[in-house]
Amino acid sequence: MIYLDNAATTMHKPQEVIEAVVAAMSSMGNAGRGVNDASLSASRLIYNTREKLCKLVGGTDPRQVVFTCNSTESLNIALRGLLEPGDHVITTMLEHNSVLRPLYDLEANGTSLTIVESDSKGNFDIEDIKSAVKPETKVIVCTNGSNLTGNYVDLQPIGEFARKKGILFVVDASQTAGVFPIDVEKMKIDVLCFTGHKGLLGPQGTGGMYVREGVKVRSLKAGGTGVQTYSKSQPVQMPTALEAGTLNGHGIAGLSAALDYIETYGMDKIRDREQELMWRFYEGVKDIENVTVYGDFSTKDRCAIVTLNIGDYDSSEVSDELLTEYGISTRSGGHCAPLMHEALKTVEQGAVRFSFSHFNTDEEVDAAIKAVRELSKEED
Ligand code: ALA
Repeated sequence: MIYLDNAATTMHKPQEVIEAVVAAMSSMGNAGRGVNDASLSASRLIYNTREKLCKLVGGTDPRQVVFTCNSTESLNIALRGLLEPGDHVITTMLEHNSVLRPLYDLEANGTSLTIVESDSKGNFDIEDIKSAVKPETKVIVCTNGSNLTGNYVDLQPIGEFARKKGILFVVDASQTAGVFPIDVEKMKIDVLCFTGHKGLLGPQGTGGMYVREGVKVRSLKAGGTGVQTYSKSQPVQMPTALEAGTLNGHGIAGLSAALDYIETYGMDKIRDREQELMWRFYEGVKDIENVTVYGDFSTKDRCAIVTLNIGDYDSSEVSDELLTEYGISTRSGGHCAPLMHEALKTVEQGAVRFSFSHFNTDEEVDAAIKAVRELSKEED
């Protein structure tokens, strides 16, 4: 099988990640809950992973790294924990439902919402964010890279604007963490939300957020923390303030090994290779008659995603044929980014997404190009 659905989850994990999870499964105690060796070594491993993540995103204090299950949980904590009725929030049409659905819920409870428009190539204009600001604007939230088009969003100008205006800047780095450099200090990001199972090459069920020192996010849950047992309320110290219950230690052990892998292999090398594969595929399909490619390919830096349709074929049928006739895995239909589909005019048809990992090969990409070419002829 040729796996080209890496924007959904990277399936090929480094061997070290698999071994770290297996080792943890037979040796890991409960972090922060005991003074036995198994518990203490779990605490050390988890703290070390916070340190690695803090370094990766340019943070100032590893205690500001909070572990969650995925970006969706992080975004829910960030948005529901920052916004209140009467506040105003600005987002964009590029967003995934992990941003939009919490915002729609909040809107129903009295937070006002502005969604900045996207053009037909999947880009928005920062000037539209600037002109949407009101006195009560509390948060700007946007993605660092669209999961549908792969368009990359330059965060720094938005972060600088938000900081100047005293507005909190929340970022969805689902498609970029582990692949693109992120520096929360330089980019003026207040809350960075990421998942562990995509570009970070870790296990599903891992993820987290980096909360800038001094930013107070209300906790969505309360419970056991291993500290302050007799207090009736959740401890206020980070990261405990936002973490209740036993963490996914086994998954975090895998994530820790994945972070080591990325550091040793080199994030730039990973990104260069992914992009090389993505451009190879794009060049191979963009001029095929009947093929429509979505997104903006005018800049070199973009996520390793190429999304297309063949004629007016239903995208799910194309994806099925790619799998059954050619053994190629892609994602089709809606991609949990409803407003992006609206901007691209693909609500009815959906779209077929090819997304690449540095573990893919040139031969796999060429096989996918050939498959698209053949399927496009069937459409004639
Ligand atoms: N958000 C993931 C995707 O884009 C699952 O496929």
